[in-house]
Amino acid sequence: MKNIAVFASGRGSNFAAIIQAVKNKRIKANLALFVCDNPHAGAINYAKKAGIKIALVKREDFISKDGFEAEITEYLKQAKIDLIVLAGFMRMLSAGFVREYKNRIINIHPALLPSFKGSEGIRDAFEYGVKVTGVTVHFVDERMDHGPIILQEAVKIEEKDTLESLEAKIHKLEHKIYPKAIQLFVLGKLKTKGRRVGISIR
Ligand code: GRF
Repeated sequence: MKNIAVFASGRGSNFAAIIQAVKNKRIKANLALFVCDNPHAGAINYAKKAGIKIALVKREDFISKDGFEAEITEYLKQAKIDLIVLAGFMRMLSAGFVREYKNRIINIHPALLPSFKGSEGIRDAFEYGVKVTGVTVHFVDERMDHGPIILQEAVKIEEKDTLESLEAKIHKLEHKIYPKAIQLFVLGKLKTKGRRVGISIR
């Protein structure tokens, strides 16, 4: 069985959806580790409740980013992690770290990349006035919100939508497609060729 580490810094609703999907076997893998850089993150409670090992690694406890990432890598090695799932992890991983786990780190972004990168994807799309936005799951590379795209699904922005109603729609979709993408990875169905990710149907 593959070992998954989830990284999060905040609320943790995606993490909760992933825990649920593992519980009812929509993801057939082991949630071996939760990595968190924020002691106040709501996500920590989900890890505790589910009995998942928690690595709380705070950036301010290290002089350099290298030191911070070396500590995380130690936890990942100990837990024999096969896949890193970023779920609202608010730090950029260094090029060296990404290289070490090439094609084994995935992220979810609340917009249709390459549009509306950054931490305010939902708000930025809403304020821009686009009629369609959505959710993207992608492999992580050295650049922010940039790596090869695994899954994307669209959400319509209706005239009656508010930022809050749009956020609710986006999160609901995230909770559906992130587990799906993780299970595709676990089953070995993702084949990356340059920027293109093929999904084998057998
Ligand atoms: C999600 O919207 C995700 O797309 C983005 O960060 C947010 C995390 O939300 N990367 P949560 O902590 O999972 O509730």
